[in-house]
Parts: sequence; structure tokens; C-alpha cells
Amino acid sequence: MELKPFIMDHPLIQHKISLLRDKNTGSKEFRELVSEIAMLMCYEATRDLPLKEVEIETPVAVARTKVITGRKLAFVPILRAGLGMVDGVLKLVPAAKVGHIGLYRDPKTLEPVEYYCKLPSDIEEREVIVLDPMLATGGSAVDAIKLIKARGAVNIKFMCIIAAPEGLKALSTAHPDVQIYCASLDEHLNDHGYIVPGLGDAGDRIFGTK
Ligand code: URA
Repeated sequence: MELKPFIMDHPLIQHKISLLRDKNTGSKEFRELVSEIAMLMCYEATRDLPLKEVEIETPVAVARTKVITGRKLAFVPILRAGLGMVDGVLKLVPAAKVGHIGLYRDPKTLEPVEYYCKLPSDIEEREVIVLDPMLATGGSAVDAIKLIKARGAVNIKFMCIIAAPEGLKALSTAHPDVQIYCASLDEHLNDHGYIVPGLGDAGDRIFGTK
């Protein structure tokens, strides 16, 4: 059964997205905002991590308390804009491993071509959170997750800041087992593949390459 996308409408996230959308927001602030939003989203996206009870000696007494157990995490940013989210998620889960994936579509065959893929060697044992701030057509996310699954990962989530309905549909159809987290569901894609109203090219705005 297809998992419903989880839209994070926390006021702090919504406020920061408004600043992110503003065309007058410069690269430095844009980068900081992407990182902060990713951190806040990560807090929600890890809400279902399993806990186990442990005993800890405090200076006063023995406490029965809880720690995270189960699968370890791996974050996989899709190059290049996904890199902007890595700092933020690592602030919350500093022990997570980070893989990287870069791909493009062959203009003739339309098949995904992986130009870079380096994943943790134990990816099949980890819970994987794929990062890309913009889910536009969904093509890169669909292909990236296909490649990550081909390396053995079975437990995958996808986290984006802004999604277009077209991308949500493509991703949830291709990978109904992948929980999608996004912070804003925008109106549509324009003829150039940009999300409307969106925020422009996230990669260019993060890295100042406009
Ligand atoms: N990628 C972006 O960075 N922005 C869009 O609007 C669509 C895809």
C-alpha cells in the first residue's frame, strides 16, 4: 500500500520556508535556512525510531530510561542540492553515515546514468534517508532510490523541502514503500521544470552559482 506523504507544517519550518522563497535572500542566509529546515524536518522524520529501556546511574539513583535502538541511520543527499541539507541532519544524528549519489538522465535513452555513487558498505542494514530540497518531476528521486535499493537498502525515507504534485505522484507510484516527508506542497511545475511558486534553483542558490 502506498504511504501518504507527510507534510510538515510546523510554524518554524513554514516561517523559514517563506524566507527561503524570497528572491532577495542571499546565498549565505539561504544555505543557513536550508540547513535549519533540514534539521527541523529530521526531528520529525526520526520520530518513529525504536527505543529500548536501559538502566543509567545518575548521581542520585538508578534511572530506567530509554535510548535509540535498531537500525543505524544513513543520509544520502542527491547531488548537488541535497548537500545543503547534510549539515542540518547531522546536527541531530552526528553518528549517521553519509552516502552520496549523483545521476543524470541520458538524453537519448532517458535511462538514469549514475556518475557518482558512494554509499556506506553496510547500507542494507541501515535506515536510509534520501535528501533533496526540491521534488520536481521526481525523476532524480525515483532513479536514486532505485539505485540505493539495488545496493540492498530496504528501509528508505525521502525528505524534501518543497514538492510539486507531479513529483509526489511519480515518487509514490514508483516507490510506494518509501515514506516521503516534505514541508510544502506547491502548485505545479512550469514548462522549464521549475516548481511554482517554488524558490528557483536550489543548487544555484545554495552554492551561489546563479
Ligand atoms: N530543482 C530546483 O532546484 N528547483 C525547482 O524548482 C525544480 C527543481
